[in-house]
Amino acid sequence: MLRFVTAGESHGETLVATLIGMPAAVPVDMQAVNRELWRRQQGYGRGGRMKIESDRAHVVSGVRHGQTIGSPIAILLRNRDWKNWEQALPVEDFQGSQQHARPMHRPRPGHADLAGCLKYDYPEARYVLERASARETTARVAVGGFAKLLLAEFGIGVLSHVVAVGDARLERPASWDELQALAAKDDVLLNCVDPEVEQRMKDVVDHAYRTGDTRGGIFEVVVHGVPVGLGAHIGWDSKLDGRLAQAIVSIQAVKGVEIGSASLASASPGSRVQDTIHYDKKGRRFTRGSNRAGGLEGGITNGQDLVVRGHLKPISTLRRPLESVDLRTREPAKAAYERSDVAVVPAAGVIGEAMVALTVAGAFLEKFGGDSLGEIRRNYEGYMEQVRRY
Ligand SMILES: Cc1cc2nc3c(=O)[nH]c(=O)nc-3n(C[C@H](O)[C@H](O)[C@H](O)COP(=O)(O)O)c2cc1C
Repeated sequence: MLRFVTAGESHGETLVATLIGMPAAVPVDMQAVNRELWRRQQGYGRGGRMKIESDRAHVVSGVRHGQTIGSPIAILLRNRDWKNWEQALPVEDFQGSQQHARPMHRPRPGHADLAGCLKYDYPEARYVLERASARETTARVAVGGFAKLLLAEFGIGVLSHVVAVGDARLERPASWDELQALAAKDDVLLNCVDPEVEQRMKDVVDHAYRTGDTRGGIFEVVVHGVPVGLGAHIGWDSKLDGRLAQAIVSIQAVKGVEIGSASLASASPGSRVQDTIHYDKKGRRFTRGSNRAGGLEGGITNGQDLVVRGHLKPISTLRRPLESVDLRTREPAKAAYERSDVAVVPAAGVIGEAMVALTVAGAFLEKFGGDSLGEIRRNYEGYMEQVRRY
């Protein structure tokens, strides 16, 4: 079983990620992992924080001589902003510490502030927002980078692109080649494969900047080269579509998930939704007329690309804040404003890649699991031989 846990506060000293269940002998390319972290920080619409941080994964266990060794992989990710918060968020209390505290008394509608205060019995929201913040996803992207390295050993790639920002929307599918070209770019705007649509997306973000507002959107994650047979139809918790849905919706501000063409499918007759089945006698393999199912039928991968979308609500910290209540007086007050992003869809796509990679790698290990890469490879090749014989 592949499992991971993250720890760390948004302005704490460091984020920590621990990944358990990675087999031994997977080659580790730290440049590739750090590239993922860099990609998470990109995108037009990010706030000042991303200018301060320049994330790099510092691996302290589980990797030796450039390979995994089968034991837990622990990763530290330092927060450069810590130097500005050391006194506000000390681990040990000190005399006079309260004068350095940065309490947050005016909860932001849409953020975890109020529900978190009520639940944890806090008089103000600092500790809630420190952990609810999407800074935590840096740790997810780091472990997701390792999941990607494992999948790449079997020719499986995981990439994303932005389908919509506000009402600016890409109305055509993106090819795998286009996604690869996007991922290789060193100047990320909104991570859309169509420059004209991307320009309209930028206009949407510019308008939000001008008006003190924020915007959401849709990202799409594609898994290419995935074998038939990951996940299972036999129980609610073994279905891969359900597991992917949880992985995607667990990302901060993601409120909806779509597998394949789900929104379109719900409004169309069945005859125009299902992917017809064919057999290529020469190539001796099954083919499909389309991929509206997004590569999943019965919670099992069917050998086509996996396609999963995440729908993001707009960021809840507004420069022109909404109505709220001051927790000290219970009187009406404008919600607090703290340095914030305006739109984060490209970054959410990269986080989506990490979550999908971890979920697919987990299902992959369940099917082909072994303690070392060599053992997994033998299991994988034996199974692929079985599929080819069909
Ligand atoms: C990449 C990314 C960056 C985010 N940045 C901010 C931000 O700067 N300000 C903010 O209010 N919310 C931001 N969010 C969203 C909040 O973390 C999220 O809305 C909050 O934790 C409440 O959780 P929920 O929206 O999932 O219910 C971001 C989300 C993502 C995915």
